[in-house]
Amino acid sequence: MTRSGHDPLAGRVAVVTGGSRGIGLAIANRLLCDGAQVLIGARGHDTLMSAAKDLADVHGEQRVAYMELDVRDRLSVDSFVFHAVERFGRLDIAVANAGTDHGAPFLDLDEANWTDVIDVNLSGAFRTMQSAAQAMLGRPGRIVVIASTNAFHPETNIASYNAAKAGVIGLMRSAAIELASERITVNAVGPGLVHTEMTEELVLHPIHGRRYLENIPAGRFGTPEDIAAAVAYLVSDDAAWVTGHHLVVDGGQTIGVDLPLETVDGAP
Ligand SMILES: NC(=O)c1ccc[n+]([C@@H]2O[C@H](COP(=O)([O-])OP(=O)(O)OC[C@H]3O[C@@H](n4cnc5c(N)ncnc54)[C@H](OP(=O)(O)O)[C@@H]3O)[C@@H](O)[C@H]2O)c1
Repeated sequence: MTRSGHDPLAGRVAVVTGGSRGIGLAIANRLLCDGAQVLIGARGHDTLMSAAKDLADVHGEQRVAYMELDVRDRLSVDSFVFHAVERFGRLDIAVANAGTDHGAPFLDLDEANWTDVIDVNLSGAFRTMQSAAQAMLGRPGRIVVIASTNAFHPETNIASYNAAKAGVIGLMRSAAIELASERITVNAVGPGLVHTEMTEELVLHPIHGRRYLENIPAGRFGTPEDIAAAVAYLVSDDAAWVTGHHLVVDGGQTIGVDLPLETVDGAP
């Protein structure tokens, strides 16, 4: 139940890729809190099963399902979407969240890294969004892809990730135009730095973590729940006329650059 005492997503069915931990798990939990039935998918069986069990303990076994999924494989994605429809009878919401960010300095970036990061983050999102849209045809649908501030505010040593996330925005906007007449909205959420397994090393680093934090005006790293809240809005009835939008959730990090007052005053 939500704080307002009703379940805005009651009767809706959602799939969340990469739902076994971090941001994806928080999204699954939030959609369940809002009343949806949810299928989560990821590659690692044990983490996935344990996440599904934790969700089922809170929200009930009938509303939670899990299935091993590799978004690099078309058949795996189609089976995942099919399983949601088979298990819950329909599909209303798809969250393309699965991602990976391994990188290297630009001059050392090899073909294997480039291909894998694009395959998971960009092509994986494409497969998820297209397969889900096909299953949604005939009734209103909601697709949300998890992009990143890296789509427009790149960081060093992860060029393939920056490129993939920029591509995700183009993909999202393209799908949004074409699916609007089908009553399917397509949007993206762009997290700044959120404390998850993906970012643990940086967040906890005594020097780099602190330095990074100095560039976040809100004064803290994001939580997976911050991102889940943005997704909850975009899949809600309140967002019925919002499509093709990249909703940045970053504590203000990418608004602008901090210009010290003394340089404005002309002081050295
Ligand atoms: N954390 C941040 O600061 C941040 C910032 C901006 C954007 N994002 C984006 O947010 C999303 C979630 O990130 P996170 O921080 O929660 O990362 P995470 O903790 O590493 O979780 C990633 C999830 O994706 C799954 N996954 C990875 N490769 C997959 C594949 N080929 N097929 C299916 N599932 C796969 C993982 O499970 P398995 O490994 O078991 O498959 C896991 O469930 C990603 O798209 C990421 O790029 C994160």
